[in-house]
Amino acid sequence: MLNSTKDRTSAPEYRTQYESFELTPLTPHIGAEIRGLDVSRPLSDEEDLELRQAFQDWMVLVIRDQELTREQHKAFGRRFGKLHTHPMHKGGHRGSDPEILPVVTTADAAYTAGDGWHTDVTCDEIPPFGSMLYVSEVPPNGGGDTLYADMALAWELLSDPVKQMLEPLEAVHDGAIPYVGAYRSTPPEGGYPRNRHPVVIRHPDTGRKILYVNSGFTSHIVGLTPIESRAILEMLYRHIASTPRLHCRVTWEPGTLTFWDNRCTQHHAVWDYYPHTRRGERVSVVGEKRPSR
Ligand code: SIN
Repeated sequence: MLNSTKDRTSAPEYRTQYESFELTPLTPHIGAEIRGLDVSRPLSDEEDLELRQAFQDWMVLVIRDQELTREQHKAFGRRFGKLHTHPMHKGGHRGSDPEILPVVTTADAAYTAGDGWHTDVTCDEIPPFGSMLYVSEVPPNGGGDTLYADMALAWELLSDPVKQMLEPLEAVHDGAIPYVGAYRSTPPEGGYPRNRHPVVIRHPDTGRKILYVNSGFTSHIVGLTPIESRAILEMLYRHIASTPRLHCRVTWEPGTLTFWDNRCTQHHAVWDYYPHTRRGERVSVVGEKRPSR
């Protein structure tokens, strides 16, 4: 039975017991590895309930030993809502299936997607609530890990005066920053999405406050001078990148499906395996409502 009494604000402790799979935490507060669950088939009610609880408890679920077709991957995503179409599909840049984002890096690649701290597609009015990346090929000598950061803990570790300053603010998230600036893609008609979100949001399920700016998409904080905005964002990005306590690290194996809560985490793909190849596909699920305080 579920018994979720984990206190996230101090000395987190692993207390939820799962019966339908084996769960091993990666750190005391973010990330857990799951074995003994086959998500290629319909889940039982208990598996479904426990998986949702684990997702809430750990934010990043590393589900091992999966053998998924594209349709099974998408069917798993649909358990949680409508599948997301990436804005780069609308510009015709990313594969043929609008619900699948290929994440492939070869020796010829000009970049690897997600090679910097970010939350997926926060330029959207309603960004994805979660993403599921299925990796089928890993570099032969290791490497290609993904780092994740707990953005609720990132908020909690800020000082009270900084929290008070940030709490009423909003920031602009602009798709042109990564998709045109970093990936050199041609925008679709009307441009990539650009939206304003609060700097601090509340997780709709846990009620925890979350620091919601990221170096991938956030262009500026509204109402501040450019120098003020840049200085504050740089300070927050440094806090996120240089506080190891916020992080967990996922080492991929072929057949790993990692499912992360995109509302309260950031991630960073590490490209340390040139000239080798890493190959995966991502499905994301649309959120239910705009991020809010
Ligand atoms: C991404 O979703 O940003 C890619 C993550 C990864 O390749 O590990």
